[in-house]
Amino acid sequence: MTQKPENFTPGIHNADYENEYLQIRLNASSLVNITGRKTEPLNGKWGFAADLYDTCRRQGWFRQERINSEGREVPLDFNWDELEKIDVPSSWNLQKPELYYFENFGVYTRTFPYTPAQAGERLLLRFEGAAYRTTVFLNGKFIGTHDGASTPFNIDITDVVKEDNRLVVSVDARRSPYRVPMENTDWFNYGGLYRDVCLVRLPSIYIKDWFVRLDPQFAAKDSYVIQVDICIESVDVFHANGSKVTGTAWMEIPELGINNEIQIYNGKGEAKIPASLQLWSPENPKLYDVKFSLNAIGRTDTVSDRIGFRTIAVKGQEIFLNGKKIFLKGVSVHEDHFALGKTTTEEIIRQTIRDLKEMNGNYLRLAHYPHDARFARIADEEGVLLWEEIPVYWAIAFDNPETYTDAENQLTELIYRDRNRASVIIWSIGNENADTDSRLSFMSKLAQRVRELDNSRLVSAACLIKHDKLVIEDRLVDFLDVIGFNEYYGWYDPDFDKLPKILANSNPEKPVIISEFGGDAQLGNRGAKDELWTEDNQKYIYERQVETFKKCSYIAGTTPWILYDFRCPRRFNRYQEGFNRKGLIDADRKTRKPAFYVMQEYYRG
Ligand code: GCU
Repeated sequence: MTQKPENFTPGIHNADYENEYLQIRLNASSLVNITGRKTEPLNGKWGFAADLYDTCRRQGWFRQERINSEGREVPLDFNWDELEKIDVPSSWNLQKPELYYFENFGVYTRTFPYTPAQAGERLLLRFEGAAYRTTVFLNGKFIGTHDGASTPFNIDITDVVKEDNRLVVSVDARRSPYRVPMENTDWFNYGGLYRDVCLVRLPSIYIKDWFVRLDPQFAAKDSYVIQVDICIESVDVFHANGSKVTGTAWMEIPELGINNEIQIYNGKGEAKIPASLQLWSPENPKLYDVKFSLNAIGRTDTVSDRIGFRTIAVKGQEIFLNGKKIFLKGVSVHEDHFALGKTTTEEIIRQTIRDLKEMNGNYLRLAHYPHDARFARIADEEGVLLWEEIPVYWAIAFDNPETYTDAENQLTELIYRDRNRASVIIWSIGNENADTDSRLSFMSKLAQRVRELDNSRLVSAACLIKHDKLVIEDRLVDFLDVIGFNEYYGWYDPDFDKLPKILANSNPEKPVIISEFGGDAQLGNRGAKDELWTEDNQKYIYERQVETFKKCSYIAGTTPWILYDFRCPRRFNRYQEGFNRKGLIDADRKTRKPAFYVMQEYYRG
């Protein structure tokens, strides 16, 4: 370590100032399942400043005091109470015209009061999603940094929280070759605290997480085994031998007459419980009230959830839901709204599902990153099947260990968040990556990670085919249950005849989902069927694609790209004007293009 000169001034000379903020990493290991718990929202108007040079972290604003140790006032470059206000949650790009293309550091701040409700209470600060690197400070203390723009994270702030609190959050929305996704994406990079922020009170020993599903080994007809894993956290109470909690938990499903004891050792418990139950399906989205309670060394906790039970499996080239072959009648969708950006609402989610059902669909590809947690919850209620995905998109830095850690953590946070949702049937580990050795190593490890975390769902990825050989081929396929196949014949490659050739040349051992196809059409632009950018051309592309699908027995589902036009700063021509126009519905999320009805007819069958 070189000796620093006497006049070294950290706030201006310290090039590696960020290291301090990488000492506490917020990741899946600390993620708490807060389903069913009472939350205290911190949503609303927060102070905000665009912090172009990351000065908040560089100069350690969180440490600075207006009055110095000699009792004199010193000039600070900020006053937390005087910053302009911005909505949380919101995509900051749509809050002010000058923030539209802002992809840098933004600093947020607010105060909040806190009074413990019970002795030994733990207090969790929870973020549902923030894009991309989030550094959190509370009452003048750095308390953690999270990477990833679309998965939740939380911090136990019990030891830092006071009666009156100052919360400061720096959000870094920059794109980078080493992040997940990297800096080049075919969608708009919204920034900020764009999903809910809240507080959650927990007892000193609490139920941290649970995973409830049908054991795939016992999916015999009419008699099923419910497999349960439960995880208990004890922050301040350890037995003499330093082990974690030992005690008893109960799982109740009143409608099934289940009230089972689960022994807890070292903070974990598991059980397999036979049950005769109604299976969850799109036609009958049956959900059961599930309640967990804990009694450990005299401390109790209860949580509740609503869970559907179903099986999903592949056999040969077919997908089976509850033992019956299923065709996934889907469409892809981005989390992009013309007025709210990547921020969404329950109504927007319900409208998306209504639009899918109007198309006679039963399945959605939530591209290319984890969508809002409410989506899978509402899909559970509405009987919609989901493909959920992490943004290992295009040319990720596959040979960078930190990039892998980031990708695996986002995958783990997604699976922890949604693995009790019956609607989720497929975890996708990426999209359109070149078939290199480093990518194969990176993504086969991700596929392995899925299987470690969840024995009840399918693993897939949206793959590119070998265009020159006209065959569905990708070394990653060996690690997948379902092959996602993106193709744009009729658009990027105008030669439709290649698609039937590829399908005929290929004999995949696994089911294939056409995970993307389509073409751009500007709403209202009419012309000949071979005239690009017209609704007529888009409709013709869909007619030719669907006609070919009907002749291929091993296509187990399709998710055309895409349900709605969406913002994309890579798209400049007069038809696109900063949007990707492949939507079957315009960006207004109302006006259908003719190709919508081609899919509606295809899925009616
Ligand atoms: C790719 C990619 C999408 C993109 C689409 C397009 O397949 O997966 O993210 O938007 O093609 O080019 O429109």
